Amino acid sequence: MAATDIVEVVSDFVSLRRRGANYWGLCPFHDDKTPSFSVSPSKGVCKCFSCGKGGSAIHFIMEHEQLSYYEALKYLAKKYNIEVHEKELTDEERQKRSDRESMFIINTFAQEFFSQSLLESDEGRSVGLAYFKERGFNEDIIRKFGLGYSPEKRDALVQEALRRGYKTEYLLKTGLCREGQGGRIYDLFAGRVMFPVYSVSGKVVAFGGRILKSGVKISKYFNSPESDIYHKSNELYGIFQAKRAIEKAKCCYLVEGYTDVLSMHQSGIENVVASSGTALTPGQIRLIRRFTENITVLYDGDAAGIKASLRGIDLILQEGLNIKVVLLPDGEDPDSFSKSQSAESFTRYIKAHETDFIRFKTQLLLEDAGEDPIKRAGIITNIVQSISLIPDAIVRSVYVQECSRLLQIDESVLLSELNKMRAKRAEQQSARDKYASHGTSSQPAIEQPHPGASTTAHPTDSETAPSPMSTDTASSDATEATTATDSITRRIKVSHLEKYERELIRYIVRYGYRNLFETEPGSWQKVCEYIVEELSIDNIEFNNPLYKQIVELALQQREHAGEQLAELRENLNFETHKRIREIIDQIRLESGDIADKQKKEAEAQETIARETESKIEAFETHFLERYFTTYPDTRISLLAVDLVSEKYQLSKVHTKYQKLETECDKLWELIPRAIYELKNAILEQNIKQIQKQIKEATQNKDDKKILELMEQNVELNNLRTTLAKQIGDRIVSPK
Ligand code: CTP
Ligand code: MN
Repeated sequence: MAATDIVEVVSDFVSLRRRGANYWGLCPFHDDKTPSFSVSPSKGVCKCFSCGKGGSAIHFIMEHEQLSYYEALKYLAKKYNIEVHEKELTDEERQKRSDRESMFIINTFAQEFFSQSLLESDEGRSVGLAYFKERGFNEDIIRKFGLGYSPEKRDALVQEALRRGYKTEYLLKTGLCREGQGGRIYDLFAGRVMFPVYSVSGKVVAFGGRILKSGVKISKYFNSPESDIYHKSNELYGIFQAKRAIEKAKCCYLVEGYTDVLSMHQSGIENVVASSGTALTPGQIRLIRRFTENITVLYDGDAAGIKASLRGIDLILQEGLNIKVVLLPDGEDPDSFSKSQSAESFTRYIKAHETDFIRFKTQLLLEDAGEDPIKRAGIITNIVQSISLIPDAIVRSVYVQECSRLLQIDESVLLSELNKMRAKRAEQQSARDKYASHGTSSQPAIEQPHPGASTTAHPTDSETAPSPMSTDTASSDATEATTATDSITRRIKVSHLEKYERELIRYIVRYGYRNLFETEPGSWQKVCEYIVEELSIDNIEFNNPLYKQIVELALQQREHAGEQLAELRENLNFETHKRIREIIDQIRLESGDIADKQKKEAEAQETIARETESKIEAFETHFLERYFTTYPDTRISLLAVDLVSEKYQLSKVHTKYQKLETECDKLWELIPRAIYELKNAILEQNIKQIQKQIKEATQNKDDKKILELMEQNVELNNLRTTLAKQIGDRIVSPK
């Protein structure tokens, strides 16, 4: 991050103009007419003042290039020619890692071997290639997907691998080979045509092999077993070849099988992936979401398969993606259908027959239920259940309207059912998270029917879909209202103290490792240490779990910061010596008397020492800021970016009569005051509570209780006075 220049990074995609301290350009994340995207080189962050997107250089790359945190980090490392050592590995990890690398190497070898047998050997051409040709695949598509053929001879791959010096260990670990009786090693896929499965970045992680003979009683497909490099539930067949097209088309087609993907590609539709015969997993959905939020599922006409995959649809809804469904003509699957279509006519068919999921599911279930009233009631629950999983309130309400129309049931009935389900889930959720996390965009607890409106807008057009750069830090369910009163009061407390907590957390994120008070000569207490200590005196913990985590992380970084500081000091010392020697040499060459020269030398030394000190100070001041704004958990790093970008308001008195002071210069005064304000707010809150209890006790004429409470009240008031005095001693003018 130190090497990264945010202006340079953003400039690769946005043309920027300088205006004052910052740079401005058209926001790449929304349709921007006038430059609202600002880049601050000093803070290392960027932000759109219109759509709100932005963050550190990492966030920018994540959003713009649709990469994960780690991939974005690697992108930047590459840009700045920095070699990435991912971490210090233990021997065991090193072993595992070189195992993984060896497995990839062996898979790559196997893929090339299979591909060569298919295209160049007599057996491969007459058996494997003939099969693919018969199924209508041309050589372009065969090469693009790395298809191959595994020879009939039971140890063809083993022999070639050993001849080339590969180890049997990895042939076994990848599942390409098996060990038979007597320790003989043989090929698992012998006699099959081969479909390599590529990861999203293009590595061969597994193979599927299809048998050629029909009527044989063994499985049509063999697939590589799960291994250190292959987790079936996190891969999608075709994603590597499809990802750019998905992004461009803003939509991903989902089909069942390898051959469906191949045929559609060949006919010119490239934004297509296969789940390989099983229901979609959350890992696979996340993979798609990196490229688009719109999924269209293509089903062949057989009903059994459709019903099984309805469960998969609920998962997609829950992940906040938009889903549509297309039924192909009777008896056709995407493979066969694309054979009779051009890319245009296929796409036209899809567009014409795309159904949103709710209509699809409703119609399907209605056909089943017929006129049976109990079954029909079951359908309502079932469908409302699906709708209730959708995170976006607007999308939910559109579906409720549509459902109401299709089932001919009053919208308000559906809504009350929906609210019940969401409340129940929220309750379970908040039982799970002891605290309801604070959220900036909680959804309305109760959804109201639309006044007679019946829009047919499809959620695909919704701009509110969640994005990896969204600043929504709350899991939406956790912030839903529940009927449990204690959770409501807790939420009021949270929001009441929130602004004081946020102020302190801002000091930690911005200046955490800056020296604040000199506790003994030469020994300094850092900003975050001071804050933590002051709060722990009164047993105060942050309510907001994210803040709590930030404090923990800040303390954990101590050692790391120390190491980096030591390294920096060493480098600076080296540089200082060099520079001082150069200057002294220079001074000695000049004419003039000795006393004069000595004075000049001393001055130069002092200047350099001062420069060194200020470099160290800058390092300490910004250490945590850099750490948090680039933290892998984006809830934390985006919060940090927000905190770092917040402007410090100078009081009017200061700006009017004094030279401009920075916040940094006044931390000794500001931080104790911020702590005081939090403590005071907690006290006030407790006092209010006690007074309420006194009122209640008075009504109940419970004299003993009244007395007890009065004592507590006095104690709290004393505390308040003491606290005010303490702050008064330290701060000249508490507000
Ligand atoms: N599949 C599997 N094992 C099986 C059957 C199917 O792994 N015994 C997976 C494969 O990924 C396959 C997908 O499920 O691609 C869909 O199955 P199916 O429609 O039967 O296969 P197709 O890909 O259509 O293959 P083909 O047209 O050659 O029969
Ligand atoms: Mn098929």
